[in-house]
Amino acid sequence: MKSPFKIKQLIAGNWKMNASAADLRQLSLLTQKLADRKVVAADVMICPPAIVLMQAVQQLKDSPVQIGGQDCHEKSAGAYTGNISAPMLKRAGAKAVIIGHSERRQYHQESNKLVAAKMTAAVEAGLLPILCVGETLKERRAKQTLRVIGQQVRAAMPEIKRAQQLVIAYEPVWAIGSGLTPTLEQIAQVHAFIRKTLIKKYGDLGARIRILYGGSVNPKNAQDILAVPNVNGALVGGASLKASDFYKIIVSAQ
Ligand code: PGA
Repeated sequence: MKSPFKIKQLIAGNWKMNASAADLRQLSLLTQKLADRKVVAADVMICPPAIVLMQAVQQLKDSPVQIGGQDCHEKSAGAYTGNISAPMLKRAGAKAVIIGHSERRQYHQESNKLVAAKMTAAVEAGLLPILCVGETLKERRAKQTLRVIGQQVRAAMPEIKRAQQLVIAYEPVWAIGSGLTPTLEQIAQVHAFIRKTLIKKYGDLGARIRILYGGSVNPKNAQDILAVPNVNGALVGGASLKASDFYKIIVSAQ
């Protein structure tokens, strides 16, 4: 099942726990390259650690690059030491937030239920949630991929009014930071399955929601991956830290 609509691709960079002065300098390099290019086919976003988020917003205020958070708490305020809420991200200038990244699920024991609560919190705060889903290698080998992805997506789909209020990112856990990627056929299969699930829940809206691929996207494989049906962009980890690599991925967008 492929969306009949032309969907503008989104290339989002997930900086994870990296934010040195040198990393921040890459932002200026990136905006310079984008300004020189003038026309870019995709929307572009960087999700830096929260501690430099406002600085990044400031640095990018005259550029088309948007800023997102990497996680948010499910409550809007309260006694939750060390946490950051969706309204706080919004006030700091973020437009979006990554939710349910596999590193959060794995190292912070985030369940589908908690991820769902965070999704609702993000939408209510007016942030665009980027819901990450993906199978482990063990699950893929056991032919459980679609079952796992189906559960993760269905459990966390928020109530939305517009397709621009939700992004899904398919990120196989075994492909993240490993240099391994699924075959283009495997990506196509999972994305078509997610598309079907979205249409079932949201009707026509579901045909316009962006589905990103993430996991070892680099300047060499980006063009092929971004050409796969139902791939409406990429969530890029390692390669988003280097402006020249990230730029090459951006200009590979359809
Ligand atoms: P990677 O990370 O591109 O470094 O594999 C992707 C992600 O975790 O979003």
